[in-house]
Amino acid sequence: MSLLSVRNLDKRFGGLHAVKDVSLEVHQGDILGILGPNGAGKTTLYNLLTGFIKPDNGQVMLDGQSLLGIPSHKVVGLGIARTFQLCRPFVGLTVLENVMVGSLGPRVPNVDLEKRAHKLLEQVGLTGKAETLSELLSYGDQRRLEIARALATEPRLLLLDEPFAGLGSGEIAALSTLIRDLHREQGLTIMLIEHKLREFMQLVSKVVAIDFGQVIGTGSPQDIVKNPKVIEAYIGKQDADYAA
Ligand SMILES: Nc1ncnc2c1ncn2[C@@H]1O[C@H](COP(=O)(O)OP(=O)(O)OP(=O)(O)O)[C@@H](O)[C@H]1O
Ligand SMILES: [Mg+2]
Repeated sequence: MSLLSVRNLDKRFGGLHAVKDVSLEVHQGDILGILGPNGAGKTTLYNLLTGFIKPDNGQVMLDGQSLLGIPSHKVVGLGIARTFQLCRPFVGLTVLENVMVGSLGPRVPNVDLEKRAHKLLEQVGLTGKAETLSELLSYGDQRRLEIARALATEPRLLLLDEPFAGLGSGEIAALSTLIRDLHREQGLTIMLIEHKLREFMQLVSKVVAIDFGQVIGTGSPQDIVKNPKVIEAYIGKQDADYAA
């Protein structure tokens, strides 16, 4: 059975049909890539899956349980965590405190939360920055903090929204390794939105391509880059990036 099942999901903003009849399945152990040009509806899809906004139509099931009408903080409690396209640290709190706030959910084991938060910081490469105010972190470190805070909720499914945006190539390589380790070593199921195609294609096991809110192709990374609709909608425009 799928961990996450999305059926005929629809969302309009006034006259704009941002998500149109989207169906997809995420299986345990997948790294499912969501590919699409700017404005395709990728972040809106995440917002729908995590209860930030409500769909006009369709169904979202996590392990057989409907998520419709469940607010975002309760969706986290059911095991879906996300990071944001624009980092959103809890300003005024230290890095450690940011992660500890993430630990306050129902899925987190009854352990020493501070020790656990330190472990998570170590895992994402933020050892030594625990007492830094989160807003003072470099952009790359804020991205790492977002992931640590999401992991602190003990997710079954982690949604990453452009984790490489604004990072240099060294930081991207390090973050790719972290994502791969979370998948391989901890068996975490992941959805990944990313425009850095080379790294994206190396990480994902399967791709769902969307354009104008609609699914235009589904397949392995090898197959999706040969899909004419995907090439027309996206890859052609990003050719230089992928080939680089
Ligand atoms: N709350 C909202 N109200 C009105 N329009 C919205 C809202 N959220 C998103 N949109 C619009 O919906 C469309 C899809 O936006 P979305 O942010 O999902 O795209 P995206 O695929 O994530 O793009 P990008 O790659 O640039 O992040 C865009 O035209 C956007 O302007
Ligand atoms: Mg987006």
